[in-house]
Amino acid sequence: MVEMGVLEDSGTIQYSKGLEGVIAALSSISAIDGKQGKLIYRGIPIEMLAKYSTYEETAYLLLYGELPTKSQLEEFSRQMRELRYLPKKVEECLKELPPNPHPMDILKVAVAHTALYDPDRLSCCREGVMRKVIRLIAQIPTMIAYYHRVRTGQEIVPPHPDLGHAANFLYMLHGKEPDEEEARIFDVALILHAEHGLNASTFAAMVTASTLSDINSAIVSAIGTLKGPLHGGANERVLQMLDEIGTPDRAEEYVLNALKEKRRIMGFGHRVYKTYDPRARILKEYAEYLSEKYGDRRWISIGEKIEEVMIRELGKKGIFPNVDFYSGIVYHFLGIPRDLFTPVFAMARSVGWAAHVCEYVQNNRIFRPRAYYIGPDYVEYVPIEQRR
Ligand code: ACO
Repeated sequence: MVEMGVLEDSGTIQYSKGLEGVIAALSSISAIDGKQGKLIYRGIPIEMLAKYSTYEETAYLLLYGELPTKSQLEEFSRQMRELRYLPKKVEECLKELPPNPHPMDILKVAVAHTALYDPDRLSCCREGVMRKVIRLIAQIPTMIAYYHRVRTGQEIVPPHPDLGHAANFLYMLHGKEPDEEEARIFDVALILHAEHGLNASTFAAMVTASTLSDINSAIVSAIGTLKGPLHGGANERVLQMLDEIGTPDRAEEYVLNALKEKRRIMGFGHRVYKTYDPRARILKEYAEYLSEKYGDRRWISIGEKIEEVMIRELGKKGIFPNVDFYSGIVYHFLGIPRDLFTPVFAMARSVGWAAHVCEYVQNNRIFRPRAYYIGPDYVEYVPIEQRR
């Protein structure tokens, strides 16, 4: 459809491919300094949250704007634990779904299906929306773990009422309580992935919500967007690449060939960071630690070689490891199957999506950019019989 009028005022129109540099919203949720490699959630540096916080506390911070008091955190964590269960019909449906689609596609189905049974489905007051949000954040891990158990022919493991968000997911996935240290590492990984400004999936959620559609639809849009290899789907592909390379001595040749052929190295580059992603720095330390702990340095040593060559070749262009580069190695040692890496990202990011949606709709305006029309001005309609 021709966007009439665009040509007329084209003198004042600014075009930014991929919306680079466009400010599309005001937000007090997080900020990224892409030159210094800094990230803050509600003003708090990510390094402090990774050191001292938990996913539940960080989720509260992102949703409500400030750190909770002890009793607020207890109440919020209690709510999250109580809301982990899936409606029976959704549980049954997960058992019927085919075992081979990508789990991100299953997650879209499960979130959409769960929405039909949400007791707050029709509620649009702030409290009702917040209950829907907390329910979704609490249920997404259960959806992922249940589906994985079913597709691998194992009994589903119901949520553990005494475990925190991160530990409970590993418990439901593996059917046994994780050791405390690994549960903590996973908790930190979730904190690091919880929020990141107007990335593609968050923006997709906001666009959906800006039409005054419901939060579940916004989260479904976000999941579909996160799935792509240029966004959250990169983590899974990093391990495929490490496998393909096989040994550290082959990494340099692989990278140089890829760059020569204009192929992208997954887990590198970022629209905002032009330096080392601070989340990747923390995840790299855990990847190192777990590789030592398990006496298996195969992946980390290939990863470090890729990093060395990439920074040497493309560092001057601002290409450095992003959050997706080392997360896969961490998840691998935590026993998380590869095709669940992106669903786990979604599980963590659900809070960032929801926080932005809730913030934006408070002062909503529908998102409606325009395309600059570059087609012909006038084309005669030719009846089908006369077309050649
Ligand atoms: N490998 C090789 N070259 C790269 C890479 C990469 N990973 N990333 C960017 N470049 C190069 C591009 O080829 C381009 O070079 P040119 O100017 O010579 O043409 C230049 O850097 C700029 O790249 P753009 O695609 O314009 O950067 P953009 O900001 O649009 O894209 C993106 C950012 C999508 C993350 C990109 O860096 C990429 O494809 N990375 C690989 C996929 C990935 O890791 N995604 C996860 C990102 S983090 C997240 O979403 C959670």
